[in-house]
Amino acid sequence: MPRMKTSVEAAIELGGLVKTYPGGASPAVAGVDLVVGRGSFFGLLGPNGAGKTTLVSMMCGLLAPDAGRVRIAGLDLAASPDEVKGRIGVVPQDLAVYPSLTPAENLEYFGSMMGLGGSRLGGRVDECLRIARLGPYAQKRAETLSGGLKRRLSLVIGLIHEPEILILDEPTVGIDPQSRLFIFDSLKAMNAAGMTIVYTSHYMEEVECLCRDIAIIDQGRIIAHGGLAEILAASGAGTVEIRAQCAPSEALLRRLGEIDGIRQVSCEGSIIRAASAQPTAAMCEMIRLMEEAGAGILSVSHGVSNLEALFISLTGRGLRE
Ligand SMILES: Nc1ncnc2c1ncn2[C@@H]1O[C@H](COP(=O)(O)OP(=O)(O)O)[C@@H](O)[C@H]1O
Ligand SMILES: [Mg+2]
Repeated sequence: MPRMKTSVEAAIELGGLVKTYPGGASPAVAGVDLVVGRGSFFGLLGPNGAGKTTLVSMMCGLLAPDAGRVRIAGLDLAASPDEVKGRIGVVPQDLAVYPSLTPAENLEYFGSMMGLGGSRLGGRVDECLRIARLGPYAQKRAETLSGGLKRRLSLVIGLIHEPEILILDEPTVGIDPQSRLFIFDSLKAMNAAGMTIVYTSHYMEEVECLCRDIAIIDQGRIIAHGGLAEILAASGAGTVEIRAQCAPSEALLRRLGEIDGIRQVSCEGSIIRAASAQPTAAMCEMIRLMEEAGAGILSVSHGVSNLEALFISLTGRGLRE
């Protein structure tokens, strides 16, 4: 059993978590140690199939790990599952709403499953309908609501019992921009009021704009973890962008790709982009080769690091490949 340092400041502590699905060639989660601080807005970023859903399912007790342990607010999940589940709200990737029930009935049902009743339940249902601005739809069957409204319902179902930790698994996939913005604003406000939030996504932009603490997961392993600025600086992931007068030849692109320290070169019309851990050195060499090849350069920029560049520099692939 891996040792874990328990801290009152930690909302979630994962130690040595492993999960292999029956018939799976390799583990979906392959030994994850992670601490999510209390009050954190924590982003778990990774491409499809990275193991995000498997990891958060173990975090909230929906899936038993093969090995390792989960502590929530200092409590061992395996030893006190009911107490732990009362502290966590879950917004699953696959919508879990009853289509034939209205939003209010869905909230009543899930609230009673969480042990609420009487006037407390009624009060929470009203409050959640208000938070999700579902009042006008309260008496409509959930199946008649748009995708965005269903997501908003799913969000407040996770909040019905006033959890201190909210875990959301790709909550904005396939919704309209207004509902996405609405969900972002609600989550920011809840986090500002003290709620710990764990947010999984394969959208770099979402994690960059929402999350203060970030872990990047790939093939069941955490490959980077920390604050945004911290992990970008530590990795030195950088990009170079050169705008040429015309589209470069295949031969030139190949030569650029062979420059020491460049991990990936892509080209969109006459704009050439490269990912490199040393963007300044890469840029100088790129300019030299382009001048040698007689490719006119219009502009050059470098060093704009982002999570996509970091992911490419760590794995050699893009987040959405
Ligand atoms: N119920 C399951 N049975 C078998 N394999 C699964 C199951 N769920 C997920 N997997 C596999 O486990 C890996 C991780 O999946 P998942 O946790 O859903 O990743 P993500 O949420 O990051 O897309 C993938 O290779 C996926 O195909
Ligand atoms: Mg998933």
